[in-house]
Amino acid sequence: MKCSCKNLSKLIIPKHVAIIMDGNGRWAKKKGKLRIIGHKAGIKSIKNSIRFALTKKINSLTLFAFSSENWKRPEQEIKSLMELFTFTLNNEIKTLHNNNIILKIIGDISRFNKHIKEEILKAQELTKNNNGLKLNIAANYGGRWDIVNSVKQIYKKIKNGELSIKNVNEKTINNYICMNDQKNIDLVIRTGGEHRISNFLLWQIAYSELYFTNVLWPDFNEIAFQDAINAFSKRKRRYGGTESNNEFIQ
Ligand code: IPE
Ligand code: IPE
Ligand code: MG
Repeated sequence: MKCSCKNLSKLIIPKHVAIIMDGNGRWAKKKGKLRIIGHKAGIKSIKNSIRFALTKKINSLTLFAFSSENWKRPEQEIKSLMELFTFTLNNEIKTLHNNNIILKIIGDISRFNKHIKEEILKAQELTKNNNGLKLNIAANYGGRWDIVNSVKQIYKKIKNGELSIKNVNEKTINNYICMNDQKNIDLVIRTGGEHRISNFLLWQIAYSELYFTNVLWPDFNEIAFQDAINAFSKRKRRYGGTESNNEFIQ
């Protein structure tokens, strides 16, 4: 049988995927349940996404778990989210380690309580020498915070006389930005139907492809992830250049 291969577009696996895991509350509401039930159901989608990233050999997976603005939520929801975070971290860290995953928490962890901070440091320490998938969990993360944080480090260097202002450029800012040691973010996925970034990565997504889906996060599975990869594969990335030269850029 003859294959009409020329109609099949090549599948391109993004090196770094970032996901805004949105829609837990609406998923629960639709089922007449409490919002926290939606957050708990979302853990399964996190595990499925990690498994998917492992099988597709994606280098980095970055998941938005709690934004710097999510403190505006009711106290009880924040408390439940913190408990769910520590419980899941404790439960899953061995499996992550056994899968050769390097876990990193990105964000301002200074606002978390002592216990959570200790758990985070312990988990990062355990997995830091692995060399498989880089899994970044954004917790109390804000894209603006990330940039401000970088600017503060640069200011310190200038003040100490280690850096001259005339040498400050994009690379200098990038040197202090989260995940600068990892591949550029190729694809940002947002579930839950909203078409916005909600102060997730700002600096890092200057040339990322954006993919929005109505699927609510607890329903996000391998098929939905594959749909996003298929859509990504069809994108023509030009980085301000032309199609003919984009293979030489980045
Ligand atoms: C995302 O789901 C999870 C967090 C922000 C912690 P939401 O809780 O925002 O769910 P919706 O958007 O209200 O449905
Ligand atoms: C973004 O979702 C934050 C996370 C997924 C952790 P939100 O639900 O907080 O975003 P908004 O409020 O709809 O913009
Ligand atoms: Mg939401």
